[in-house]
Amino acid sequence: MRTTSRLALTGIATVAALTLAACGGSSEGSESGDGGGDGKTMKLALNQNEEHPSFIALEAFGEELSEATDGRWDIEVHPNATLGAQDETIQLVSDGGVDLSIVSAPQLENLNDDFVVFSLPTVFDSVESQMSVINDQEVLGDVYSSLEESSNFSVIGGLTQGARSFYVEDGPIETPADMAGKKIRVQESPVFIAMIEALGASPTPMAYGEVYTGLQSGVIDGAENNEVSYFTQKHFEVAPFWSYSNHLVGADFLIANTGTLDSMSEEDRAAFDEAWQNAADNHTELWGEATESAIADAEAGGATFSEVDAASFTEALSPLIDQFVTTDSQKALLEAIKGATE
Ligand code: GCU
Repeated sequence: MRTTSRLALTGIATVAALTLAACGGSSEGSESGDGGGDGKTMKLALNQNEEHPSFIALEAFGEELSEATDGRWDIEVHPNATLGAQDETIQLVSDGGVDLSIVSAPQLENLNDDFVVFSLPTVFDSVESQMSVINDQEVLGDVYSSLEESSNFSVIGGLTQGARSFYVEDGPIETPADMAGKKIRVQESPVFIAMIEALGASPTPMAYGEVYTGLQSGVIDGAENNEVSYFTQKHFEVAPFWSYSNHLVGADFLIANTGTLDSMSEEDRAAFDEAWQNAADNHTELWGEATESAIADAEAGGATFSEVDAASFTEALSPLIDQFVTTDSQKALLEAIKGATE
């Protein structure tokens, strides 16, 4: 494992001040963040809108937590990236200004390269197999606690992003050959950049919230994502040709400031973990239906979904495994996932 200190905090005093500001004191009878009652309201940053299954499942997460802790803990979900893009909310969670955030696996890859395993093609072959391990720390080992010292947050668990495919402004992409010369938006990470290069296209790293205008203005010719994001972010309006490359099943993670977690009593922390597991299960249940309706709604809005030669994408991307899984800890994580899902 290699962790970087990009988020290294400047001093213990800063940590203490920010943590106290974020927590409003301890969980024992402190004023809530929103000024009402005795509880503590945690802020959760999300870059999806209110229609997205993540928003719906996370709202229910907060309700269940509040009920289970008699109002000692609650969650306020801030959708639409109003607290910042994911690279910014990682920093905020690290500093303690925000308690919780959903971030995509490639964002964590930049802090601990073991996380690359979650974004590689063929690691997960379905949402079901991904979800059977992604909240199971017995399978995953200590990767979720690996950033506690260097970055001051823990990974609580994962949510599926479903299978990701390409979409562009003109014509379907049948094979990687059709990608030559195209500028494709990627998440800000080395493995996503390498994927697009391996397919012969030109990668443009960009925050999620900028993709629509990037497509509209022609800064990029296409992007890759799941159908739910394609529809809820309205990308289909400006890139109507979807091609089922299904090149990987992506993962989102819930990260939590360690000071906030440490200020929970054991009982409340157990309630938090249980409510999270229920939220993840709920999200997986919502996912299939949300995908179906996103396809129907995007089609009604003029999008075309094409089955293409998905195997040709898998084949072109297969060298990435050896290229990116090089350390003992990356290999152990990959083997543990494969061992539990195959
Ligand atoms: C998915 C994922 C987000 C991520 C986005 C992206 O929608 O759920 O967490 O930010 O892809 O491509 O940036």
